[in-house]
Formats: sequence, C-alpha cells, structure tokens
Amino acid sequence: MENNDSSRESLGSRLGFILLTAGCAIGLGNIWRFPFICGQYGGAIFVLIYLFFLIALGMPVMVMELSLGRASRRNIYGAYKTLNPNPRLKWHYPGAVFFLGNIILMMFYTTVTGWMIAYALKFAAGSLSGLDAEGVGLHFNNFLANPVAMAGFMLFTVAGSTAVCAIGLQKGVERITKFLMASLFLLLIGLCLRALFLPGAAEGLSFYLFPNPESIRHVGLPLVIVEAMNQAFFTLSLGVGSIAIFGSYIDRSHTLPKETLAIVALDTLVAILAGVIIFPACFSFGVRPDSGPGLVFVSLPNVFNVMQGGRVWGTLFFLFMSAAALTTVVAVFENIIAFLIDELKFSRLAASLTTGIGIAVLSLPCAFGYNLLSGIHPLGGQSTFLDLEDYIVSGNLLPLGSLFVVLFCTSRYGWGWKNFLTEANTGSGVRFPAALRIYVAVVIPVLILLLFSIGFARQWFGFDI
Ligand code: ALA
Repeated sequence: MENNDSSRESLGSRLGFILLTAGCAIGLGNIWRFPFICGQYGGAIFVLIYLFFLIALGMPVMVMELSLGRASRRNIYGAYKTLNPNPRLKWHYPGAVFFLGNIILMMFYTTVTGWMIAYALKFAAGSLSGLDAEGVGLHFNNFLANPVAMAGFMLFTVAGSTAVCAIGLQKGVERITKFLMASLFLLLIGLCLRALFLPGAAEGLSFYLFPNPESIRHVGLPLVIVEAMNQAFFTLSLGVGSIAIFGSYIDRSHTLPKETLAIVALDTLVAILAGVIIFPACFSFGVRPDSGPGLVFVSLPNVFNVMQGGRVWGTLFFLFMSAAALTTVVAVFENIIAFLIDELKFSRLAASLTTGIGIAVLSLPCAFGYNLLSGIHPLGGQSTFLDLEDYIVSGNLLPLGSLFVVLFCTSRYGWGWKNFLTEANTGSGVRFPAALRIYVAVVIPVLILLLFSIGFARQWFGFDI
C-alpha cells in the first residue's frame, strides 16, 4: 500500500490494514470481558445498549482517530502536536496523559493473556480433565497463587510480542496478525456450531438475545448503560490512540467511514459469537452467567470437562482466546513503539526492546497481585491491581480520551470539523455525513460526560441512581 511519507513503514495490503486494526480491537474485551459483563448486567438488554453505543459513539470516534492518524502520519500524541493550529494551546499535553492508557492497559492485559496461554497448554496436557467444579476452582486459585507461573506466562507474552514488533511492521506485525485472525474466525465458528447443539442451548440464547427487564432489576438501568458505554470503548480500543496509529499507515484511496464499518462489524461479530458459545454452555451445565471475571476460567472448564471431546474444544477455545489477546498486545505495543520512533527518534529495535522491558516490569504488580502482593487491595474490598488498572483505563482514560478526540476534531481551537471531515471523506466509499455536526460536537461529548460522571459518582461516593 502506498504511503506519502517514504521514510515511514506502511502496510502491505488493505486486507492487512483491516485485519490488523480489527486484531487490535478484537481481544480479551470481546471474549473475556464482554460475556462476563453482559452476564452481570442483564444479558440481552445489555447487548442492545452496547450495540447502540458501538454505532452512536464507537463508530464516530473510530473515524476521528483514524483521521488523526492518516492526516498526521504520526501516533496520536504527534497528531495532537502537528494538527493543532494554535501552538499556544497544548493539546498534546493531555494527549500524552491519555496515551499512557496504552501502557496501563498492557499492565494487566499481558497477565490475563498469559492465563489464556496457560489454559490452552493445560487443556492440551489434560491437567484439567476429570476435575469436578470444586477442583476446577481450586486449580485456578492455585494457579493465581503461584508467582512463578504468573510472572512466567506474562513474560512469555511480552517477549513474544516484542519479538514480533522488532521484526518490523509488515514482516512481523502484519503477517502474524493475518494468520492469527484467520485461525481465530475458523475456531470461533466451529465452537459456535458445537455450543448451539448443546442440550438447553435455547435457554442460554434466550437470556442472551431476548430482553427481559427482570434481568437488570438488581443492578439498575443507569449502571447497565454506563457499563455498556465503557465496554464499547474498551472493545474498540478507543481514546488512547491504539486505532489512530493504523490510520497513519494507510493511503487515501478509501474513505475512513468505510474502513470503520468493516472493523466494527468484525469486532461486533466476534463478541456476539463469543456470547453464542458461552451462554448456551452456561445454561446447559448449570453455570451462573453472572459469575464475574472468573466465568471463563472457573466455569467453562467444567463445561468442557463434561462435553464429549471437551479436551480438544477446551484447548481450541483457549488457543483462540490467546490468539485474539496476542493480536491486541502486538497492536498496542506497535503504538507505543511508533511513539518512541516518531517522537524520540529511537530505532525500531531499540524502541521494541524499551517497550518490552518497560511493560514487563510494569506488569509485575498485576502478576503478583494474586500471590506476593495479595494483601494489597488498591480499590478496597477484595480488589487487586488488575481491578485498579482496569478501572483507570476502562472507567476513565478510554471514555475521557474519546471525549478529547471528539473535542479536538470538532472545535475551532483544535483541528476542527472541516479538516476532520475532509480527511475522513477522502477516497472512495461511504462518507461521514456533514449533517451530523451538532450531534458529534455537542451530543456525543454531553453523553460521554454524563455517563462518565454517573460511573465516577458510583465508584467514589457509592452513589446509585
Ligand atoms: N480492544 C481490546 C480488546 O477488546 C482492548 O481486548
């Protein structure tokens, strides 16, 4: 694919770009976070609100992030710096704070990715075969309590991702992501077909697809709405520049709304299919859908253990999750590496090593949060470093970073509406409607601020509406 800036690496094909960007979006958010949050916040009602936010907030913000990347040919920090028409306004200072979201995201993401890899290996080796529900729970707790295993799998994740990024954008990142994404879709479809034929699958599908007001009575609609918005930003990796960076690697032959539609459609397909695997399986084997973050690790192995061929399905499922998570780690690493190359003039190798070593060290509190540091509860209660880091990213930096992207792209003190629209609509394909100006410039910021405030008030003041 052509690129105006000859010194900058570019992607080999349009398919490569779409799969790479979708690979960044698709990850633990779709297959681990989406099902357990959906299970906790009401099933089908949550799904409907989540889909609404993907279209109403996620798609416009993604078009804006890609526009910032493509117009500036830089990472998002560089974009705030170079596209800013008014040097007295330092848009890139808050931009740098939001950029930190990439690092904080990786501080827990690499550990959970390590769990996925470990469980794929455990299933392949048959270590979970024959365990009853209590044994499966115990196995997971023992695994968390082992600091060597926790740090080891996290370091494996970081080292592998660093190596892929060090090889280079097209050779490493693009090639491996294409391979991983293709296998991921095949595995997913196979598992869905299997889940749909489980006894009792219909009950699970009904919880997941037919709205029932009873299912959200215990949590309340406002919280369901806040969680659905946060999940929409999380699943698309918006607000911290993870998506903008891919805009910087593509040419202007296609409009950005057209690319966005393809990426959001792939991401949504994976999340929806993940639910089609998990909820029928839960109902079929008496696993509560609102079991929380442990849903996948403590509950699904029970399901696989009583299924015919469960060891193979279990291995495939966790392999699929590992692949999805790894593509996100590689993509976010690439974003941090591009920052070091663009802004601090590092070589690709030096930038990759700095990122790898830095993230490995910073990920240790999360990896040790269940063993050596288990006495520390940063958010009170039984919270861990993972909860704290997830809260900082999902509850704060992603929604506020997205708000900041919108303000920069619509305000005349920032890049401005006309520049954004021209960049977004350059190329062939569906165009971003100019008539949406008031909606984008006013309604979206108000909506994000309102929902952010509700989530904030609840977290710090226990305030329920
Ligand atoms: N978008 C990434 C995911 O869904 C963070 O896992």
